[in-house]
Parts: sequence; C-alpha cells; structure tokens
Amino acid sequence: MNKNKVLVTGGAGYIGSHACVELLQAGYQVAVVDNLANSKLESLSRVQQITGKSLSFYQADIRDKQALTDIFATESPSTVIHFAGLKAVGESCEQPLTYYRNNVYGTLILVEVMAEANVKQLVFSSSATVYGQSSCNQYTEDFPLGAINPYGRSKTMIEDILRDLSAADKINQTEFPWKIALLRYFNPIGAHESGMIGEDPNGIPNNLMPYVAQVAIGRLAQLSVYGDDYPTRDGTGIRDYIHVVDLVKGHIKAIEAFNSQKFEGGACKAYNLGAGKGYSVLEIINTFEKVTGRSVNYKISPRRAGDLAECFANPELALKELDWKVEKNLEDMVADTWNWQNKNPDGYI
Ligand code: NAD
Ligand code: UFG
Repeated sequence: MNKNKVLVTGGAGYIGSHACVELLQAGYQVAVVDNLANSKLESLSRVQQITGKSLSFYQADIRDKQALTDIFATESPSTVIHFAGLKAVGESCEQPLTYYRNNVYGTLILVEVMAEANVKQLVFSSSATVYGQSSCNQYTEDFPLGAINPYGRSKTMIEDILRDLSAADKINQTEFPWKIALLRYFNPIGAHESGMIGEDPNGIPNNLMPYVAQVAIGRLAQLSVYGDDYPTRDGTGIRDYIHVVDLVKGHIKAIEAFNSQKFEGGACKAYNLGAGKGYSVLEIINTFEKVTGRSVNYKISPRRAGDLAECFANPELALKELDWKVEKNLEDMVADTWNWQNKNPDGYI
C-alpha cells in the first residue's frame, strides 16, 4: 500500500478537481476515477498545468466492481476521497432511483472494494442537506437528521451505511478498523485563484452563484431571487457560502487527522464544513456588483419549493478536531468566481 497515494472518485468534477490541486500541492500522489457523467477531462489537464504535477486518471463508473478492483490493485492507495455522485436536488425528485443507484449503490460497491483491498481510510462528501428542517438555523453535527428530498436522503443513507460499517469493527474487533470522515458541506462557491478550474454546470445553473455569474457575463438575461418575504434581515434566503479551496483543504485536514489520536482505534465522525455565518441573496448580489463592477439584472420571484429561510454551520468541531477553519471571505469567493467565469465564459470547451 502506498501511504502517500489518495484515490479520488469524482475527481474531474467541480470540488474534486480543486481537491486534486490541493493534494498534489501538499505532496500526495493522486489517482482519479470518474465516469465523466458531469465533468470534462479538461479539468484534470488544467489541474496538472496549475500544479506542474501529473496524476493518473481512469474513466470508470464506481458501480463497476471489476474496474474498481483493478484500479485499487494498480494504484494501491491508502485513502479514498469520495466525491462521485449526482447532486441536483430537483432532478433527484424526478428520478429518485437514478440517485439511489448512483449514490447509494455506487458507494456500497466502493466500500466493498476498499474492504477487499484493505484500504480503510475514507473521506466522504456529505451535505448540510442531511439536517432536518427546523427553526434552528445554525447546525451542530449532533442535530437530528431529516433530509427532505431523494438527493439528501441518498447522503443520509450513505452516512448510515458508513456509521454501521465503522460500528461493526468494534463487534468484530477488527485489526485495521475504518477511519471515516463525513464532511457536511454547506454552500461551496468560488474557484481556484488561477481562474483555470471552476464550476461548469451543465445547462442552466440551479445554484445562486453560477447563475449570478452567468447573468453578469451576459449568458443569462435575469436572475430570479426566490422570495423576499422570509423572516431574515432583508427578506431573502441566507446561506453559509464557503470558498471551494477552503472546503478542499478540510479534506486534507481530515486525512491528517486519520493519523492522529482523534481516529485511533477507528471511528466514523461527521464534521460541518462551513464559515459559520450566512449571507442573504441580496448581499451576494450587492457584493458581486461591488467586486466585479458589473450589474446583475434581477427580479423578485416567488419562493422556491423546499428552500429554508436560513441555514448555516456551527463549524467549531472541525476547528477543534481537524484544526480547520475558513480563510477566505465573500469578496474572495466572488472575485475568484468572476475570474473563472471571465476566463472561461463557456466553461470547459
Ligand atoms: P460534480 O458533479 O461537479 O462532481 C461529481 C463528479 O462525480 C463528476 O465529475 C461526475 O462525472 C462524477 N460521477 C458521478 N457519478 C459517478 C459514478 N457513478 N462513477 C464515477 N464518477 C461519477 O459535483 P461537485 O459539486 O464537485 O460535488 C462533489 C460531491 O460533493 C458530490 O458528492 C456532491 O453531492 C457533494 N456536495 C456538493 C455540494 C455542492 O453544492 N456542489 C454541496 C454538498 C455536497
Ligand atoms: N436562489 C435564488 N435564485 C436562484 C438560485 C438560488 O434566489 O436562481 C437562492 C435560494 O432560494 C437560496 C440561495 O439562493 O436562498 C442559495 O441557493 P442555492 O441553490 O445556491 O443553494 P441551496 O442552499 O439551495 O442548496 C445547495 C446545494 C444543495 C446542498 C445545499 C446544502 O444545491 O445540493 O446547498 O449543502 F444540499
């Protein structure tokens, strides 16, 4: 087993490509498995240009057990960061089985292959969407779970599977127990400061920041602000936005923690990765206009079904146990989003 090698599933995607940069720059060797269902190989070519380092790439589906088994045999990683998954909430309501098959079944195959290869360090991309809706706006990790859509439930099911897997180690007194970090992301935005990699959504974006950027560059005509009658400071929804580079640094901190006392004897632990404070939709628009000098054409529209008024992280556990906190502010997030959008008006082509 190569202690320095990390296998990254979904590494060609938005967050995965940024993770590859940070891993390579931190001295890790990287192997990526991605079926390119929602990404382009160009992202990994840019990762290699930014870092001046190379990585291995396998175009494979994580549900293909034989392909994964062969990749583990060739690469001998010590750790897996598991980003591969489908992530569109609306689509998950229309096609729940596709989401459960891809996300839940895909993860089952992955952990089976990991167990067979005796690779038992796993960092998993979870989401703030696993938390139940409530009047509590600031979530700690022990807050009751209760996702409200198939995408969120797929993440909750995976968390359950991984917790069960870790608990079984205690019963079986396993010699090499699982070390698993469930990282619950809040709202990742921004891009690498080079502007060479960033978020490249297919079609019309669902999420606020890529939508704002595409309106500012003229690709889309107008932003709809979904509701200005929420019980928030300006009536629009408040979220905890986190720079994607800060977010991926949290993954490296988790890998480092696997070698510390925190995970001695094995454990499966959840951590919120967020800034711990929120911004409203109007604050995002105003900051975008201030930082970029572009105006963002918007109108107030009805609320979007399923949206909460306010949602932000309590990130204290990640600070205490992973020694991680965000370093970048909203201006950085906006400037880096704009730099990426400007340099790549049509995304990766
Ligand atoms: P993304 O779509 O850009 O990246 C996911 C990657 O996984 C893509 O490259 C896709 O081709 C690949 N993939 C999907 N299914 C696969 C499969 N069966 N086999 C192999 N590869 C597969 O998404 P992202 O924004 O980078 O998100 C990464 C992870 O983080 C996802 O699991 C997502 O659910 C989670 N997450 C994202 C957000 C967000 O707002 N972006 C928030 C919380 C959690
Ligand atoms: N919004 C608009 N107009 C838009 C898009 C969004 O006003 O065109 C508003 C939303 O109503 C919300 C805020 O901007 O108040 C943020 O919306 P996003 O769609 O960017 O993000 P969400 O918080 O709804 O969801 C995101 C991901 C989910 C993930 C969740 C928590 O899309 O997958 O963060 O991690 F689960």
